[in-house]
Amino acid sequence: MKPIRKDKIIDNLKKTIFSKKIEIFENIESTNTFANEIAGKGAPEGTVIIAEEQNAGKGRMGRIWVSPKYANLLMSVIIRPEIHVEEIFALNMVMALAVTDAIKDIFGLNAKIKWPNDIYLNMKKLGGILTEISAKGREIDYAVVGLGLNVNWKPETVSEMRYPAICLSEEVGYEVSREKIISTILIKLELFYRMVSKGLANKLLKLWSDRSILTGKTVEIDTGTGTVSGRVFGIDRRGSLIIESEEGNEQRVIFGDVSVKEITNESTNNRKNSR
Ligand code: BTN
Repeated sequence: MKPIRKDKIIDNLKKTIFSKKIEIFENIESTNTFANEIAGKGAPEGTVIIAEEQNAGKGRMGRIWVSPKYANLLMSVIIRPEIHVEEIFALNMVMALAVTDAIKDIFGLNAKIKWPNDIYLNMKKLGGILTEISAKGREIDYAVVGLGLNVNWKPETVSEMRYPAICLSEEVGYEVSREKIISTILIKLELFYRMVSKGLANKLLKLWSDRSILTGKTVEIDTGTGTVSGRVFGIDRRGSLIIESEEGNEQRVIFGDVSVKEITNESTNNRKNSR
C-alpha cells in the first residue's frame, strides 16, 4: 500500500478553506488529539491533520480506533463555527454528508449514515466520525471533526459487535488510492459547512435523514445507563433520535449505540416517514 501524497491531494483540491494547511504524519498518537492541541494554541480554521498510523486512535464512547499503517483514512479537521454548543450535531452531519457524497461521486456507491455518526455500506460499518469541541460558555471556540474510514483494510469485528465492518477495496475489488477520496471529501465538506454558517442546517437535516439507515426501523438503543426501544421517526435539530415506543410514547435520545431489531420493508418506511 502506498503512502498518501500531499501534492496529489492539493492538485484535486484547488482553493477551499481546507487547502491552506494540510499536515500528514507517518505516525501520531491521534489526529484528533493533535488537532485539539494545536487548535487550543490558535491553529486556523481549515487546518487538516492526516495520519498514516495512530498509536491511540480514539473512537466514540471511549473506544479505540484501530487501523494498520498506509491502509485507511485517518483525518481530523479544525473548524471555528459560529454556532452554539447545542448545535454541535450539525458538524457531525456536515462530515457524514461529505463522506457519503464523495463515495457516491467517486465509486457510485450509496453509503448510508447510522445515527449518530457512523458511515455504513451494505449494512456494514465503513467508518466513524468523532467530533470534539472546546467552548466558552455556549459559544464554540473550535471544533475538531475526526474521520476514520476503512479504505483498504477493515477490522474483523467492530467493537460494537452488532454489525460486521467493510472497507471500500472489498466492495470495489481493487486497492483504492486515498488522495482522491480525501480531496473530494474536503471539497464537499466546505460546501456543507458553508450551509451551516449560513443558518441552513435544516436543509442538511433533510439530506441526512434521507441517508439514514434507521428511519422507519425498530431499534434498541444502549444509552450507557439503560435501554430504549421503539420505532425511529427521524432526528431533531439537536441530533436527538426521535423514537416512538410500542405504547405510542415519543422519546428523544441524544446519546447511545443503536441496533436494529427488525428490518421493515420500504413501503412501511415510506408510510411512517410521511407523517
Ligand atoms: C467511531 O467510534 O466510530 C468514531 C471513530 C473516529 C476515528 C477517527 S480516526 C481519525 C480521528 N482521530 C482519532 O483519534 N479518531 C478519529
